[in-house]
Amino acid sequence: MADTPDAAAEAPVPTVEVGKLLPRLDRGEGILLVDVRNEEEFETWKVEARRPVETVHVPYFDFIEDADASIAKIPRGRDVVVLCAQGGSSAMVAGMLQEAGIPSANIVGGMIAYGIYLEPVRVPLAAAEAARYEVWQVNRRGKGCLSYVIASGGEAVIVDPSRHVEWYEGFAAERGARIVRVLDTHVHADHVSGGPALAGKLGVPYFVAAGEGFELHQPVTPLGDGQKIRLGGERGVSIEVRVVSTPGHTPGSTSFLVDGKHLLTGDTLFVASVGRPDLGGHVVEWGHALFDTLKRRLADLPGETRVLPAHYSGMAEVSPEGVVWGLLGDLRRTVPEMQIATADAFVAAVRGAVKDPPKAYAEIIKVNLGAPATEEKISEWELGKNQCAASARKVAGA
Ligand SMILES: [Fe+2]
Repeated sequence: MADTPDAAAEAPVPTVEVGKLLPRLDRGEGILLVDVRNEEEFETWKVEARRPVETVHVPYFDFIEDADASIAKIPRGRDVVVLCAQGGSSAMVAGMLQEAGIPSANIVGGMIAYGIYLEPVRVPLAAAEAARYEVWQVNRRGKGCLSYVIASGGEAVIVDPSRHVEWYEGFAAERGARIVRVLDTHVHADHVSGGPALAGKLGVPYFVAAGEGFELHQPVTPLGDGQKIRLGGERGVSIEVRVVSTPGHTPGSTSFLVDGKHLLTGDTLFVASVGRPDLGGHVVEWGHALFDTLKRRLADLPGETRVLPAHYSGMAEVSPEGVVWGLLGDLRRTVPEMQIATADAFVAAVRGAVKDPPKAYAEIIKVNLGAPATEEKISEWELGKNQCAASARKVAGA
């Protein structure tokens, strides 16, 4: 029997999870995204994928004020997914479209879910390395944040985890590894670190260096420049992770060199830019430190060192393998800030390139230094993409 209009209205609206939707958008499956957030929300933060996302923007209030005119703006014969901030008004709109005969699914949790979704991507390694360890780049796609899981011989180290720590616990367990240490490259400004919570829950050492002028209220196991951590051993294989002090983005910024080959740079060096040194209000001092780090401290590392950063600015920075990475030798030639000859010119360039950081960054830094905050506040402060780069190059899709 054909559905009556009333029965159709009561039928449950189909839903789609962010984790299922993103691979489909990446493959370019011809999905049409109907974004029903208001103008400002839409302009400041959009869903991105490895192929352009075809989007129609019709605010929710337009659907309320004039449903017929709004529905008429949605092309027929397309596979539609509807997006809003939290998944509520998009469910209503998806229902209206369904009723109008346009097959539509609601994106569960909206931009909040997009902002916290974590996608693990295995970093390709040479066969001899892959036999000894795994490197996973965990891409928080909505924010452009990258964390890492390094596993060897039954043990894992987590670097720069997001605050949804149970994800890392589950992932390490799936890989058959026990988390033995948690590291942060620096006191983050764009997102609340999961480091202290994860390490505290598991009773394993946690490290972050806040640097001079910052009072850290988190228990840490200090690590010095050049110190080596051994990982693994339970199954006869192990690797070494070397601590490389790389001040500048923050005074305590630290990089981690995995097996002498893969440099987790945090926000010191990205694949298209460098980290902004202005977030603490000491742009001249920190800018000089960053220049020295890039020109002198990283100078000894060979050009084939693989750089794995903590952030990226646009999908153009994602390689065909799905990894955000670059060779240090290539970045020395291609990152514009790496071409600057003097510290003063470097500071002037990065100063000119940065916009005022989001106001929430000051609050997030406080939380990462140990101040308490509610989940609701943190969720609000973390909205939007990271703005950690000094000047992401203008590249297609960035
Ligand atoms: Fe940062």
